[in-house]
Amino acid sequence: TIPKDIIVEGKTYPTDEWTNVPTSIVEAIPRRLHLQADHPLSITRKLIESRFPGYKTHNNLFPIVTTGQNFDSLGFPLDHVGRNRSDTYYINKSTVLRTHTSAHQADTFRANESEGYLISADVYRRDAIDRSHYPVFHQMEGARTWDRQQAGRAGKSVAEVIWEDIKKLPRHDVAVEDPNPPFHIERNPLQSRHAPEEAEAIAAHLKRSLEDMVVSIFNAAKGASDAATPDEALKVRWVEAYFPFTSPSWELEVFWQGDWLEVLGCGVVSQPILDNASVPERVGWAFGLGLERIAMLLYSIPDIRLFWSKDTRFLSQFSESQPIKRFVPFSKYPACLKDVSFWLRSSSSAAGGASPIHPPAPLQSAFHENDVMEIAREVCGDLVEDVHLTDDFTHPKTGRKSLCYRINYRSLERTLTNRQTNELHERLGALLVDRLGVELR
Ligand code: PHE
Repeated sequence: TIPKDIIVEGKTYPTDEWTNVPTSIVEAIPRRLHLQADHPLSITRKLIESRFPGYKTHNNLFPIVTTGQNFDSLGFPLDHVGRNRSDTYYINKSTVLRTHTSAHQADTFRANESEGYLISADVYRRDAIDRSHYPVFHQMEGARTWDRQQAGRAGKSVAEVIWEDIKKLPRHDVAVEDPNPPFHIERNPLQSRHAPEEAEAIAAHLKRSLEDMVVSIFNAAKGASDAATPDEALKVRWVEAYFPFTSPSWELEVFWQGDWLEVLGCGVVSQPILDNASVPERVGWAFGLGLERIAMLLYSIPDIRLFWSKDTRFLSQFSESQPIKRFVPFSKYPACLKDVSFWLRSSSSAAGGASPIHPPAPLQSAFHENDVMEIAREVCGDLVEDVHLTDDFTHPKTGRKSLCYRINYRSLERTLTNRQTNELHERLGALLVDRLGVELR
């Protein structure tokens, strides 16, 4: 039955018909991997922090926020997919587990304690299951702003002050391809409150700061890389991006071991956010990045579940006081693939036995793949490596839809026996029937 309240670290939240956060997710909250000494996420965080001297760090902000903080304050439209219960963990209608560190932008700007800040935190998203997706991961957000009035009092324009600051930034000698990618003028307009020379100065400071950070951390991992050959020299490039809370916006990509990889999103902070945060005279930039993504590249960590491992064969390989070295997988235990096929509940059939803490049994049209993913996590914990759709069939006469998912069962720490995987697979099937009202084939 549905608990009346959800209690997290002494705080009590009432539940309602929006509640969809499972206990396994609530239990992950106290782990705070980004603060655990010698954990690769913590080492990666510190490495990045060291490239932003003078920025105030916030590393212990509470993960439960309002929909106002997570979405409205950032200008997310009401119909944005990110607001769906299929994508976001709701504690109740107006309270969520933050889906990104940007949830703290408005409050941090309002506190106005420093010109630059960095926020590192656990974030939560309902998503696919594979080696690079986990429902809890970690982001770092950073921002740098300047005050127009303060510049004016010193007899300067804010653009002049920013260019002076740019001269103080470290220089790197890595090739930057597309330093100024073409812009889609409707998606990424110059903001009405910004003079062109202001936006240009902010963008220049943003690009130099983030290029320096990416170049220095990837150079630190060079020795540990597989393909550190001279012809695969480090390169970075800028590509246009879109976020509801910055304009213009970019992604920074790095050429690493033969591929262009996206490492962060960023842009010029939307002025209405700063206005609403009672600092309308400030202008600046912000960025956000995924710590797991970067740590996986720096250390060649092959599976995102490893970050949650308490196995010393994993944890003992990382040290803050030592240079980055390649992670040596302790073993690859055998995979066990099993398929589950089911008919979706058709609109005429009766409601399934949904547990209220989970989404009600969806009709065919309301089915969302993330519900399958979450049930797989609930049954298997970290013993599931990958779940993906292998077949999608609609019966020509009845119009009923059938799906087949392939589950890859594999432990990172031991060999699973046939009995264990069979048992997991049976429980998975039963729970799919129970929660989603599907019919197994
Ligand atoms: N919050 C964005 C994300 O999760 C990243 C971002 C942060 C982009 C700040 C721009 C500015 O994808």
